[in-house]
Amino acid sequence: MPIIAPSLLSANFLNLEQDCNMLNNSQADWFHLDVMDGQFVPNISFGLPVISHIRKATQKVCDVHLMIEKPENYTAAFKEAGADILTVHIEACIHLHRNIQEIKSMGMKAGVAVNPHTSVQLLSDLIQDIDVVCLMSVNPGFGGQHFIPHTLEKIKALKQLILQKNSTCLIEIDGGVTLENAPSILAAGADVLVAGNTVFKSANPTATIAALKAL
Ligand code: DX5
Ligand code: ZN
Repeated sequence: MPIIAPSLLSANFLNLEQDCNMLNNSQADWFHLDVMDGQFVPNISFGLPVISHIRKATQKVCDVHLMIEKPENYTAAFKEAGADILTVHIEACIHLHRNIQEIKSMGMKAGVAVNPHTSVQLLSDLIQDIDVVCLMSVNPGFGGQHFIPHTLEKIKALKQLILQKNSTCLIEIDGGVTLENAPSILAAGADVLVAGNTVFKSANPTATIAALKAL
């Protein structure tokens, strides 16, 4: 069964507690938390104080996706805020290996996010050190965008790389995931589905999560 990670970027920010409780009582596995700095991506979302509060509202895995420049400056702060998985962008890290080691040394799982234009082959020398690869299936910065079809080829190539290198790394797909395209995403080899609009803009988010989980 896939791991389902609803993105709270599409939640109701005026009543986050209600959406946290909905997720707690659903089959959602992870809380996907999107941090944007207005530099790495052309949008600003939320940061440390909001994540600290969400941390207190759930026992589920907090999967923090940093779309920020110089993420290495904030590793300890996000650990402190309650991240279980900390994901940094390959495009934002000059010393990615060092950043990953630091994330893991603080007791978090390490994720690496990859933009649509970045080849997954760039992960070849690092794949054994990574817990999650977050493959962006949209250009990061906004919820509610359309899935880029070429991502399916990237999932297959990444899966090959993981098998070839004997890695236990999970493949997470982020952006434009719907009930319609999720089956082909999973068939290509994905393990984790992030879903923002598909969950939070649906008439019955709990049922939508259950439907994704049942795929
Ligand atoms: C995009 C974020 C995503 C986003 C997904 O930059 O990383 O996590 O919230 O939202 P949907 O599922 O609506 O595309
Ligand atoms: Zn994300």
